[in-house]
Amino acid sequence: MKILDQPESDSTAPTSAISYAGLIEKIEILRSTLRWTSRLERPEIEKLLRQASALRDEVMQMSHKERFVQAASAEAKRDMSPGARRRALLERSFVFEGTFGDNPKLLEALEIAEKAAPTDLPVLIDGESGTGKELMAKVIHANGSRADKPYISVNCGAIPDNLLESELFGHRKGAFTGATNDRKGKFESAHTGTIFLDEIGELPLSGQVKLLRVLEAHEIQRVGSDEPIAVDTRIVAATNRNLRKFCDEGRFREDLFYRLSVIHLTLPSLRERRDEIPLLLSYFGDEAAATLKRRPVKMSPRLRDFLRNYEYRGNIRELRNVVYRLTCLAGDMADIEHLPVDVRPKSSLTLAVSGPAAGGNGVTTASSLAEAKRVASDEAERAFLERGLQETGGTVAELARRYEMNRSHLQMLLKKHGLHSKEFRLAAQKNREEEE
Ligand SMILES: Nc1ncnc2c1ncn2[C@@H]1O[C@H](COP(=O)(O)OP(=O)(O)OP(=O)(O)O)[C@@H](O)[C@H]1O
Ligand SMILES: [Mg+2]
Repeated sequence: MKILDQPESDSTAPTSAISYAGLIEKIEILRSTLRWTSRLERPEIEKLLRQASALRDEVMQMSHKERFVQAASAEAKRDMSPGARRRALLERSFVFEGTFGDNPKLLEALEIAEKAAPTDLPVLIDGESGTGKELMAKVIHANGSRADKPYISVNCGAIPDNLLESELFGHRKGAFTGATNDRKGKFESAHTGTIFLDEIGELPLSGQVKLLRVLEAHEIQRVGSDEPIAVDTRIVAATNRNLRKFCDEGRFREDLFYRLSVIHLTLPSLRERRDEIPLLLSYFGDEAAATLKRRPVKMSPRLRDFLRNYEYRGNIRELRNVVYRLTCLAGDMADIEHLPVDVRPKSSLTLAVSGPAAGGNGVTTASSLAEAKRVASDEAERAFLERGLQETGGTVAELARRYEMNRSHLQMLLKKHGLHSKEFRLAAQKNREEEE
């Protein structure tokens, strides 16, 4: 129990913004020590109490000054527009391999990452699947003083329980059946650099205890060896689980949680940063075009509209996959039918699967064959006109020329279906502006 061996509180501790996190960490270790200890002798209880009182005094002393500093910096941030915050980040030569816009939630996460990067403090990144946690871990490494040192990634969810210890800490030859050679573990490989512990929520309790020991002692032991090996490794962990909830349920050790989350970063889901969808569509559109060696695909207004409002349960990864698919399957212009079947809107699914003449919902509810035929014909007519307007950017004259139709007849049909060519012209113009 490290807390019992710690020197009693140092009242000259620097009052940096980080020191609050340090204090909270100490308090939580104290709490966890009490929680996980089955028995304590009186002298130990006395010592813990003294440490708790010293911590309380420290908090009181720091509180006034810290709050003042924090309030001042929050004030400064409030004065800056999101655009200015984004530019400021980039001007401070912040390394970021990807793209980001003016979304305040993401800017907040990036600003925390920027401040945390040069320190050696552990960082815990959480967020839904596909929100960019791994990318963020690399950003923290790339912007820190260990950037030219190893970056080792470990997927804690993918290692079988019985191999976990050997994978993380290595083993000695003969330590177990199959250990034919001495082998370095991930921690040793990451010495002087950063270790990224992905899917940390999946780490079994036995692995959590071992990890906690490394975090406290900064040394590891290979399986089958008594010899401690010092490791200097910066830890960044990620999870799409709610670790606080896991702690409440007894599935994750609270003391490990506090050790790992000295800096805690939450990445917003794409649904919380919809404003950046157009930016991401064009970023991945260019990336996919370069990868597939073709010109960036154009998107029809209805596809663009759909992609702007889609739910993206798989977040940026799903958006990226969709754009790669469109770029691969579409000609010059991508449309709804190029989307994966499970992503497409339901009504277009009927059209795409059975052909336009089969019609949409109206056909299935028609009360006679004649009505079904009329509805199907109407729906096919409307779909044809819509596609034509998209392809001609809303120019009725061009549409009439292309399909050799009489212009006034065409105008009449558009009116019948409530289609406004102006809307298609505006959408096409918006499309062009975004592409520029
Ligand atoms: N801001 C961004 N700009 C460009 N690409 C991004 C951005 N954020 C994430 N990506 C890309 O989205 C994809 C998913 O990101 P990443 O693998 O980091 O997500 P994750 O949160 O680790 O997902 P999971 O929980 O499923 O492991 C990757 O291809 C990544 O490069
Ligand atoms: Mg990941």
